[in-house]
Amino acid sequence: MATTMTEAPPVDWQPVITRVDAERARRAARQRAQGLGFGRDESEVAALIASELATNLVRYAQGGRIGLRAIAQSGRAGLEIASRDDGPGIADLRLALNDGYSTGGGWGHGLPAVRRLANEFDLVSTDRGTIIVVRLWAKASR
Ligand SMILES: Nc1ncnc2c1ncn2[C@@H]1O[C@H](COP(=O)(O)OP(=O)(O)OP(=O)(O)O)[C@@H](O)[C@H]1O
Ligand SMILES: [Mg+2]
Repeated sequence: MATTMTEAPPVDWQPVITRVDAERARRAARQRAQGLGFGRDESEVAALIASELATNLVRYAQGGRIGLRAIAQSGRAGLEIASRDDGPGIADLRLALNDGYSTGGGWGHGLPAVRRLANEFDLVSTDRGTIIVVRLWAKASR
């Protein structure tokens, strides 16, 4: 059947339960960014974001999934990094996005850093889980 709809490429979801999985998610994001033509620093940003989101999955949600997806807009390549879990949710979003707030004895810098580094940042959290979607756009090539 013919369709005129443009299909978004599928999200590549990887389960993240342990720290080893989180480390794998970090490498996958870096590799995916490099494959999309992101520069070295931009790829490290992608890796950092995936790592922070994945680490939070391990610590606060008893695991979840990290999704990577290539996106494009006006000819510019982008990488979407998503995190989803069925954990308890983030009790106080405003606090969680503030530097220095942690319920787990961390530094509380992860989520605020992710938000600052993201070109687009969306977060939905209820007592049934959390979804975070980050978009990074590659810098225009010289
Ligand atoms: N997926 C999640 N599910 C439930 N709560 C979360 C989740 N991610 C983050 N949180 C909550 O948000 C708080 C802030 O997260 P953030 O990543 O900024 O800090 P942290 O993980 O505590 O410390 P750091 O990332 O600096 O090591 C966490 O302490 C936790 O309470
Ligand atoms: Mg964290």
